[in-house]
Order: sequence, then C-alpha cells, then structure tokens
Amino acid sequence: MRIDIITCLPQLLDSFFAASILKRAQDKELVSVNVHDLRDYTTYKHKQVDDYAFGGGAGMVLMIEPIANCIRSLQKDRTYDEIIYVTPDGERLNQRIANRLSLKENLLILCGHYKGVDERVREHFVTQEISIGDYVLSGGELAAAVISDSVIRLIPGVLSDETSALTDSFQDDMLAPPIYTRPADFEGWVVPEVLLSGHEAKINDWRYEQALQRTRTRRPDLLNE
Ligand code: ADE
Repeated sequence: MRIDIITCLPQLLDSFFAASILKRAQDKELVSVNVHDLRDYTTYKHKQVDDYAFGGGAGMVLMIEPIANCIRSLQKDRTYDEIIYVTPDGERLNQRIANRLSLKENLLILCGHYKGVDERVREHFVTQEISIGDYVLSGGELAAAVISDSVIRLIPGVLSDETSALTDSFQDDMLAPPIYTRPADFEGWVVPEVLLSGHEAKINDWRYEQALQRTRTRRPDLLNE
C-alpha cells in the first residue's frame, strides 16, 4: 500500500511515521508513506498557499491551485483508490472504514488548515471525507496520522502476531474482553481461573461473554439488540 499525505506542515507528520510499528511497516515495505509539502506546489510569492475567504469572515482558506498542482502531479504516477479530505464535517472514522481502506493500494490524504480548503477542491478532487471525532483540531495532520495508523496496522504482516488485529476492540462490532499477564496473583488480585485452565474452548466462551457484557454496559450502541 502507498499513502500520500498533502499538508502545509510536513514536520508535524515526519516524526510520527518515523517511529514504532509505522516505521517497521515501511522498513518491511508493506507500506510507503509519503508526506508532501503543499508549499512546494504554489506559484504564489512567498510560498503562499492560503488566502482570505470571498465574502469576508474570519480565517484563511487553503487555495485550490497549489492543491490541484500537487494532486495532479501525484496522479501522473498512479491512480488513487480514494482521495480523502480530513474534516470535522466528514464521516466519523470507525473500524469498518479502517478495514475497508486497508484493502486499497493507493490512498491520498489531504490535510486542511485554518478554516479549511476551497470548496471546489472537495467538489472536484475529493472522493471521501473523514472526521476523527466531534471536535475541531487546528489542522488535519493529527487526523491524517490517526487514519493512517488505524489502516496500516491492519495490513497483513504489519503486526507481528497477525491475530492481534483480529481481536481488537470493534473488530466484531464488540469491545475487546479484559486481558491479563503474569503474575497470576498480584497481592491477592488474581487472574480469572478459566484463563489458567488451558481449556481453549472454555477460554474462548469466557472471552466472548466478557466482551459482550463489556459492550452492553459501555457501548450498547454497537449491538443490534
Ligand atoms: N480537522 C480539524 N478537525 C478535524 C477532525 N475532528 N477530524 C478530521 N479532520 C479535522
């Protein structure tokens, strides 16, 4: 998979993708993440990429020209499965969206800044709009990082134990069950006995029941009950 990210603050993203699982995924060539500085694509003086909104009002708007130049330049080399704009008024990110995106070959993510982007970018280039939650960030970079992380960890081979993505919360429209590790007894706080029994079917039943119970109490909206 290849992910291209367009931003006017590339330094915010560079360190994020240079560490941890995301770095390993790139080292293993399972994904390639490429951050592009919007300012490299403007023809305006002083690398200007934003301007005042027509009709007035507070806040600057990212101009269509540098964005169009950047997208078209990237499109010369590949076709994008989705051109994603991250915005608080987009569809709320969830595991289903992450799963679907993890099957794609080429993703392009456009980060807004200031008040956002000229509406014509959304009309003519963007194929999907995603929000990471009902709050406003000062730019789309964190949202692009969140989406990329949620997608990259689902690519087969990225996590060392592949099944661990399959047992994540939300993967079966349920929260994950409680988990424990050594010691089995910490100052009298003991691990549920069934987990020490070695009886796989019983353990699976217990985990399913716990996941169901946890989902019922914390996120009943996930269950069609
Ligand atoms: N840009 C600013 N706020 C955002 C949010 N909540 N989700 C996605 N992109 C954003």
